[in-house]
Amino acid sequence: MTECTNSRLPDNKQRELITAAYDPQTVRLAGEHMIELLSKHLRVVQDASGPVLHWFEPNENITLAHKQLAAGEIGPPSDVPELLARFDELVKQTLSRGQNLHHPHYVGHQVPASLPLASLFDAVTTMTNQVMAIYEMGPWATAIERAIVNKLGETLGFPAGEFTGLVTSGGSLANLTALLTARNVTLGNSWSRGLTSHSPAPVLVAHAESHYCVTRSAGILGLGTDQVVRVPLDERRRMNVNELDAILTDLRQKNVPIVAVSAAACATPIGAFDPLVDIAEVCQRHDVWLHVDAAHGGAACFSARHRHLVEGLHLADSVVCDAHKMMFMPALCALVFYRNPEHRYAAFQQAAPYLFDPSAPGMAEFDNGVSNLECTKRAAAMGLWGTWSLFGSRLFEALVDTTFDLSQHFYELLTAQDDFEPYCRPECNILVFRHLPVELRDRSPTEIDQYQLQLRRAVIQSGDYYLVQTQLDGRSYLRTTLINPLTQAVHLQGLLENLREQGRQLLSR
Ligand SMILES: Cc1ncc(COP(=O)(O)O)c(C=O)c1O
Repeated sequence: MTECTNSRLPDNKQRELITAAYDPQTVRLAGEHMIELLSKHLRVVQDASGPVLHWFEPNENITLAHKQLAAGEIGPPSDVPELLARFDELVKQTLSRGQNLHHPHYVGHQVPASLPLASLFDAVTTMTNQVMAIYEMGPWATAIERAIVNKLGETLGFPAGEFTGLVTSGGSLANLTALLTARNVTLGNSWSRGLTSHSPAPVLVAHAESHYCVTRSAGILGLGTDQVVRVPLDERRRMNVNELDAILTDLRQKNVPIVAVSAAACATPIGAFDPLVDIAEVCQRHDVWLHVDAAHGGAACFSARHRHLVEGLHLADSVVCDAHKMMFMPALCALVFYRNPEHRYAAFQQAAPYLFDPSAPGMAEFDNGVSNLECTKRAAAMGLWGTWSLFGSRLFEALVDTTFDLSQHFYELLTAQDDFEPYCRPECNILVFRHLPVELRDRSPTEIDQYQLQLRRAVIQSGDYYLVQTQLDGRSYLRTTLINPLTQAVHLQGLLENLREQGRQLLSR
């Protein structure tokens, strides 16, 4: 027998290190302490006691993060109390330097004040590392995802038992997956042969203000970003159905292959919902795959008062809905739905004998790796399943109603001011506006636009509020997403006062 001279077992020091790192008692002590810190942090943030964003220049943060790594290199903690002290320092540093999404003054991007209990459910699957390429690696997590797909799909309007879907990491990946399926179905052999045999070059027809991930998908799918045909918008920035009809008629006459029409419910800039029933009728008439990016607005289906906004979603061939937006889940949790269950396997086709067991072919139906880009995949729906199981869908209805109503209130508030101008009445919880103080009235459009951008930067760096900016038809605006149900009218009144005060300081410089 040959001796393997290079192999050696871990020495005692390494064994001790591994034992300390896996010690369940340490996990208990650190975990209890972390829950203490987190609950205190949540209380302070939710009470609006501190700043919403702790602004530090990126390089300052990176240097600090490096320092902690360097401290780890000096040597491991000598005992449990020292480990807990280091743990405390690392968690506190993280909490004190982050973005406080649970602060009522957070009115920025489409990322919610997530439901805190959902992250505790997520912790169960991260600590036990339930991954899901194949059913047997994460049987319960797979079952949870299947139940969530069924329940949310039915809530979106798909007939029970007649559709399929999957859970994936984020709206961008979800849109890419759905559009890849559309490409493979509509362009026959494109998975194996690429697009070489297709002439003229295929196109993707999309809402003119689709999220950038839709155009990016066209690049990744080999269509090319120049092959995205943008459908002009109507006066409410929704896809213009007559223009869509004319575009599809023209493309069909020229025999240009059409991968899909990608509609939005709602589109990112101002939260405009496309008229899905009319769009579906046009797509059916031209025999074109309809994809709906409902990453933000899909959750309107939970609300008796707002579900009309997504009427017709069930007519789409594929739909994307992000639970980490309007279902208030921690990132990442996004869903893709296919109207035709057979399309579940149309995105990815390859052999992987080391994963899929040919002796149990029926099990492949439950293997996520077959329909997801990811092989090792996080158990992404645990928080959603746990919260839904605790509170029922009425919680999501309450969250949608509360935040949508708040944006109506904000619109009324803005309209009543002389120095603020809302872009339009919001359809959901995204609201765009400008600050136009008297001093700015006679300034050029460029100066007015510059002012909006400088004002936003001054506000976010002050830590008082967090909002974002956008451009519409070449002009700059302030943009808010009211995605924290703890934000109230008084906080929005405070935002206007804050903008005025920061504006005064800017204009007096
Ligand atoms: C309409 C729409 N689609 C897709 C996305 C991308 O989703 P994600 O950030 O989860 O990748 C966004 C993000 O804001 C969006 O608004």
